[in-house]
Amino acid sequence: MTSKYTALKDHETPLKVLFTGYLCAVGIGYLFALIQILFTHGMADGKFGLSVDDIVYSYYGNRSGTVLEQKLNGSMKENAPEKERFKIMEWVRDGADPYDYKDDGIEKIVQTRCVMCHNKEASGIPNFAEFEGLKPYTAQDTGATFTSLTRISHIHLFGISFIFMFVGLIFNFAETTTMQYKCIAIGMPYAFLVADIMSWWLTKIHPVFAWLVIFAGMGMGVSFMFMWVTSITEMWLYQTVFVKGIGSRYLEWRDSPGVTVADRAWDFVKRVAKQIVPVSLFIKEQWLAHAWPVIKNKLKK
Ligand code: HEC
Repeated sequence: MTSKYTALKDHETPLKVLFTGYLCAVGIGYLFALIQILFTHGMADGKFGLSVDDIVYSYYGNRSGTVLEQKLNGSMKENAPEKERFKIMEWVRDGADPYDYKDDGIEKIVQTRCVMCHNKEASGIPNFAEFEGLKPYTAQDTGATFTSLTRISHIHLFGISFIFMFVGLIFNFAETTTMQYKCIAIGMPYAFLVADIMSWWLTKIHPVFAWLVIFAGMGMGVSFMFMWVTSITEMWLYQTVFVKGIGSRYLEWRDSPGVTVADRAWDFVKRVAKQIVPVSLFIKEQWLAHAWPVIKNKLKK
């Protein structure tokens, strides 16, 4: 393939160093971003590791109840007898009205059962001596707020488009990838970026879209990795990989006159077709495990 630009491997060494420095820094940044996701969203369902539930809890919230109810059924279960716990929960279900707090005798229960630990001397746990301290725990967890979503949306859109601007610009000088695939690899992150941001908002509205969050995030990661590896390999390992190594066979295949675009397309279709059965089984499994119970619950209500 003749090109009008200087191929990556033919650039002056200082420019290669600059490109490499940038790619390495951004690559490490990407790793930290993944670790951060693991620690913030990853813990949302209380278990380590990222799952669909984490995404749902982060954006849609855990609407199965309030923190107070969950705690009263969980780690705070032993701190009040059944009847009193039930009374508190009933009050929460009825909207946690501040006037009923005193009238229904909730205050008395809290004062006798909870304030011995949850007082203002205690550090690290909320103070329930005043109603104001208890109030936040009686609200339903509706996930990310619109304010926070607006904030992270615009930061992500601006920041990540810049990262992919330069990664794409560097990758654009690659010579081993054909024009079509280059266009796809460079354009894909932007499509996935927009899909990713949109999917946060959609998940806020309905938890089914948590899948889109994962799919879009993975798409972005795959195109990033492809551009990163291709660029670095062409700059520093061109001889080893593309002349002597396995890359040479790829180049042969790419340039062989026998292979037309139609052949490639057909080959691609065949490969995709082989995947249809396993993929549809996977989708069916996920649907039964995650999406269907949600819809069933909605219908029941
Ligand atoms: C023996 C001391 C003790 C008593 C009594 C106690 N708690 Fe707690 N509570 C804790 C500790 C310690 C934590 C933090 C660890 C945890 O979340 O399990 C906590 C956490 C909580 C939380 C979660 C706070 C957060 O930041 O997520 C809630 C809600 C709560 N307690 C409610 C209650 C209620 C309601 C009562 C009374 C029925 C009560 N607790 C009685 C010690 C106590």
